[in-house]
Amino acid sequence: MSKKILILPGDGIGPEIVTEAVKVLATLRDEQGLDIEMDEALVGGAAIDATGGPLPDATLDLAKEADAILLGAVGGHKWESLDISIRPEKGLLGLRSELNLFANLRPAILYPQLADASTLKPEVVSGLDIMIVRELTGGIYFGQPRGVRELDNGERQGYNTLVYSESEVDRIARVAFDIAMKRGKRLCSVDKANVLECTEMWREVVTKVAEEHPEVELSHMYVDNAAMQLVKWPKQFDVMVTTNMFGDILSDCAAMLTGSIGMLPSASLDENSKGMYEPIHGSAPDIAGQGVANPLATILSVAMMLRYSLDKPAMAERIEAAVNKVLDDGLRTPDIMSDGMTEVSCEGMGDAIVAVL
Ligand code: IPM
Ligand code: MG
Repeated sequence: MSKKILILPGDGIGPEIVTEAVKVLATLRDEQGLDIEMDEALVGGAAIDATGGPLPDATLDLAKEADAILLGAVGGHKWESLDISIRPEKGLLGLRSELNLFANLRPAILYPQLADASTLKPEVVSGLDIMIVRELTGGIYFGQPRGVRELDNGERQGYNTLVYSESEVDRIARVAFDIAMKRGKRLCSVDKANVLECTEMWREVVTKVAEEHPEVELSHMYVDNAAMQLVKWPKQFDVMVTTNMFGDILSDCAAMLTGSIGMLPSASLDENSKGMYEPIHGSAPDIAGQGVANPLATILSVAMMLRYSLDKPAMAERIEAAVNKVLDDGLRTPDIMSDGMTEVSCEGMGDAIVAVL
């Protein structure tokens, strides 16, 4: 039976990069027998403009029916003055939470061809291959109570709640240990157990799960130190597992080690490997519509989709090999451009990948 893929272009550069990724999916469908049906829907600012809300019921229904979702990006200056409860980002957070996509995999891999695109010294980043496992449906992003209240003295007070139940920590820890088993068998759990009770418990639960994975070497690190170690000597890490907010921050940091955030894909999975796939960069409204965005993170997200939700690892490898080939051929979008290379547009990069496929 053919698999249903829901395409959510979103805002800013989202539609441009998703167009290129859809070309890749269509090529695999038409020429290599990938049995998929694609449908498209609105999310984020585009959905607010059309329907008044960032996650229309119609989109959520299609998302629930789909086997996998490809998302571009959401958000932009246009919607920044809206109340936080109905901003574009709520569309993304709503999808994550409604679909129970608790496991967010964010690989940070340095393509050797881009070693000089990083602001860090080549010897620090060459060969870099880290997997950040970010908890995605809990923690301070979703904790209640939350809001802004007025105190008796008339002053406003903002508050959010960092909350994790043991089962939430247990299930994300298991995902991380499983991934570590398939890689370098080293897992670093990142917390702030010296200050936050919630993450002290996080540490205890992860340590407990470790008993079932004796082959994996587990370490713990406070998040401030982890941020420092990521820029000091990132190759010390294999797999990292952390909370929703710490993972948000550390994954942007890890992304820059690789030279451009425009290269990094992500997968957000539920218990049954249904997933939403998206580049980890945002909607970049400053360059939207100019055709200069890098579509490779989105195309590599399609590779993750093939691997994790569609059980087509060989096709995933073909896409990854195609990305390597176009980089070897010297093709670069502006974000990764360097001397002697050939600058291409977003569309030019997508076409080049399709040609290699
Ligand atoms: C990310 C983004 C999102 C997040 C925003 C757009 C809500 O920064 O996926 O990392 O904070 O999770
Ligand atoms: Mg982020």
